[in-house]
Amino acid sequence: MKKIRWGVLSTGKIAHTFAKALQAAADAELYAVSSRSAEKAEAFAKQYGFEKHYGSTEEMLADENVRVVYIGSPMSCHYADAIKCLKAGKHVLCEKTVALCTKQLDEILRIAAENKLFFMEAMWTKTLPHYRQAKEWFDNGRIGRIKMIKADFVNLCEGDPENRLFRPDLGGGALLDLGVYPLTFSMAFLGNEPESITAMAHMKNGVDYDDAVILTYPDAFAAMTFGFDCKSENGAAIVGETGSIIFDSWFHCSEKVSLYDSNNRLIETKHFPHPRTGYEYEITEVSRCLNMGLTESPLVPHSDTRAVMVMIDRIKEKIGLSYPDENT
Ligand SMILES: NC(=O)c1ccc[n+]([C@@H]2O[C@H](COP(=O)([O-])OP(=O)(O)OC[C@H]3O[C@@H](n4cnc5c(N)ncnc54)[C@H](OP(=O)(O)O)[C@@H]3O)[C@@H](O)[C@H]2O)c1
Repeated sequence: MKKIRWGVLSTGKIAHTFAKALQAAADAELYAVSSRSAEKAEAFAKQYGFEKHYGSTEEMLADENVRVVYIGSPMSCHYADAIKCLKAGKHVLCEKTVALCTKQLDEILRIAAENKLFFMEAMWTKTLPHYRQAKEWFDNGRIGRIKMIKADFVNLCEGDPENRLFRPDLGGGALLDLGVYPLTFSMAFLGNEPESITAMAHMKNGVDYDDAVILTYPDAFAAMTFGFDCKSENGAAIVGETGSIIFDSWFHCSEKVSLYDSNNRLIETKHFPHPRTGYEYEITEVSRCLNMGLTESPLVPHSDTRAVMVMIDRIKEKIGLSYPDENT
């Protein structure tokens, strides 16, 4: 089968990790990279073996050989970048959090549908085997009805105030950077309609640094913390009436997941070592969908991405977080 020619938009931190995964993905061709700086694009292309490098997004999008674009820019750029790519006829894999608000996401999805193009949020967790194993255990009734979900994502991020994480104009804050993972995780198992949301955050310079969120369902709770100010194990647990599923530390990308009975006796642990960085799985999923002519991934459907975005909007309102560009 013909390899899929990828374009990588940006040369930031995650773009490097993604390029390493592209090298390991059997069905992907490292074709083009674009940056705001022609020199950075050239150096990046050399480092990973991309055939083409461009000093602007527009130049890369004019290359008819680029079939799908990976967007690795800061959150505040996703809306404009995604629309540019789709209007240029490219399929899109866009980093999380996919937009600053639901209104932006709806417009992206509308343009993707209008142009019959594939669009997926790079929510790699949902493509990883440990997560899919947990879903299978749950769907097969191994833990019964869920009573509680607990998930944390706390990552000490100190230093440069110019970092995108701390800048409202770049879509900074812990909710969009980290909170999207426990929210996606909880909603995938408990559903999209909590009766209520309790959310609190410590704010600094216009963005949220540390947050605590509780989703209340008629018969269950999901409790999560996320933030930049400290370190944690970042585990996750799904507690059901007849058993539990426990994720290893750094739950969103771990290589191990365990099933316990209701007396906390271990039934089974499954190990899934990443082939390289773990991002290969989302790349394979995009290839699979494109080869099948799909415009969305069954593993990361638009409806799930949108449901999380709606939840994020509700939390933003509760903690008093808004972004300069979100209503334009
Ligand atoms: N899936 C994951 O595990 C994961 C992990 C980390 C981050 N992410 C996501 O990936 C995205 C980028 O994160 P990152 O950590 O890679 O950020 P980063 O290191 O700051 O890189 C972002 C890149 O975007 C480009 N860019 C375009 N417009 C920009 C602007 N106005 N200001 C700054 N940079 C701009 C820059 O590349 P050029 O200079 O080449 O234009 C920059 O290097 C975010 O959406 C984040 O949530 C995902």
